[in-house]
Amino acid sequence: MDKTMLAFALNREGQEPLYNQLKRHLARQIENGILAPGDRLPATRDLAEQLGVARISVVAAYEELKVEGYITSQIGRGTFVAERSPGDLDVAPLVGAMSPRDATLRELLSLADRPNVINFSHGIPADSFLSVSLIREALDAVLTRDGASAIAYEAPEGYLPLRELVARRAANLGIDVTAGEVLITGGCQQALDLAVQALLKPGDVLLTSNPTYTGMLDIAQARGVTVLGVPVDAEGMQTADLEDLIVQHRPRLLYLAPTYHNPTGSVMPLHRRRHLLDLAGRYRLPVLEDGVYGELRYTGEPPPPLKALDEHGLVLYASSFSKVLLPGMRIGYLLAGGGLYQRLARVKRAADICTPALNQRAIHLALESGQLDEHVSQVRIACRQRRASMLDALSQDFPEACWAPPAGGMYLWLELPTGGPTSTELYLHAVRSGVAFAMGPLFYTDAQGRHHLRLNMSAYPPDTIQEGIKRLSAAWRELAAGYVSTDQASSVPFL
Ligand SMILES: Cc1ncc(COP(=O)(O)O)c(C=O)c1O
Repeated sequence: MDKTMLAFALNREGQEPLYNQLKRHLARQIENGILAPGDRLPATRDLAEQLGVARISVVAAYEELKVEGYITSQIGRGTFVAERSPGDLDVAPLVGAMSPRDATLRELLSLADRPNVINFSHGIPADSFLSVSLIREALDAVLTRDGASAIAYEAPEGYLPLRELVARRAANLGIDVTAGEVLITGGCQQALDLAVQALLKPGDVLLTSNPTYTGMLDIAQARGVTVLGVPVDAEGMQTADLEDLIVQHRPRLLYLAPTYHNPTGSVMPLHRRRHLLDLAGRYRLPVLEDGVYGELRYTGEPPPPLKALDEHGLVLYASSFSKVLLPGMRIGYLLAGGGLYQRLARVKRAADICTPALNQRAIHLALESGQLDEHVSQVRIACRQRRASMLDALSQDFPEACWAPPAGGMYLWLELPTGGPTSTELYLHAVRSGVAFAMGPLFYTDAQGRHHLRLNMSAYPPDTIQEGIKRLSAAWRELAAGYVSTDQASSVPFL
């Protein structure tokens, strides 16, 4: 290979670690075809020497490129550009081209799905929580009761009795809506996507908490929307600098999950909710509230949803029944009023005509009979136990890390000591040690979160959680012993 290809201009003074710069340069050369499929990359020792960096920087860059599918290595033969890199698409690219972040996420999940890996990385409820018999009975009953209408097209806005029921349940949260303001969607994900499509055009700015739900980053990318992150602390999205951001960037939408935030688990206190709504009202900024984890409450009572406090008619509320049992049924909803509702219904019709009638009707029946709520309360008890096990296991086995016990939701957001391995470095080692998690940078708009990771608290029973945390802390300790950060390592060749 022509060595000039690898003559990167590495910035040794800047904030970005050298391994990351190296990784970026190599990924770009692969995407641009300068490095072609099958090209052999230099050995890590040779490249480190050529660039005057520590070998560990090259090793870390190669490891991440492997995870992201850019390169492969063959024992005894060397490292090669993969036959298909993440940038290679047979179809027209999405508005925002597929980014390495997407590829990382997919690769991350597939690595963690190896047998014997205790996988805390997913954002889904445990299979054992999904009540097959309950849904089987509901589906049977609906087909017997409704016959062909259960498998015909439904109204684009949704099955009316379900919309009425959703409106009644929203009233329990203090949200005052009629069935005419309830749009049934294909899960909460589609509710978010419809809101983005109805309110933004490509190039518009979307404000979101930073970190945020990765699915919203995917939507923004697919729709060509510019995402701007608002920092988060233990009390959720910080509102102190929000006004400056609004004035400076003129966003068209603000997205957040104020209760049991994914990934941090934080709950935004009432005073912040009011401040945020005050700003939204002053600048006529629509707010998209994500309430998908609302039912998974373990301690304390969260403040009312933003939608319940909204005096300006600016809040859209998105949620679903996925996190409380039924992710594959794909039933969610969006609460919105006024002319916006009609626009959302039109976008929904264009997207998929309607949400499946059978699933809507089955969920409606299971809800109306009270069986679903009964099941959810059982699941909540199990989740509370699992959360307690994870907190115990962390206190006992991983005192070097920091976390705030989440009052609800599915996730625990863990902070690793800053001087030690990053979550990405740890991930690769942890999977080999039989445990996986979601790496912090996946959730950020700007590659922060290097020392954070997200753990799904509800995925396993208590003894497996304990074993998983043991493996995690052991993996961290092995890597932390003698660890030299890639930042410091740049001046220490051949580590
Ligand atoms: C914050 C948040 N919103 C929305 C969703 C999507 O939910 P659904 O499965 O209902 O589409 C998820 C799923 O992980 C989520 O974490």
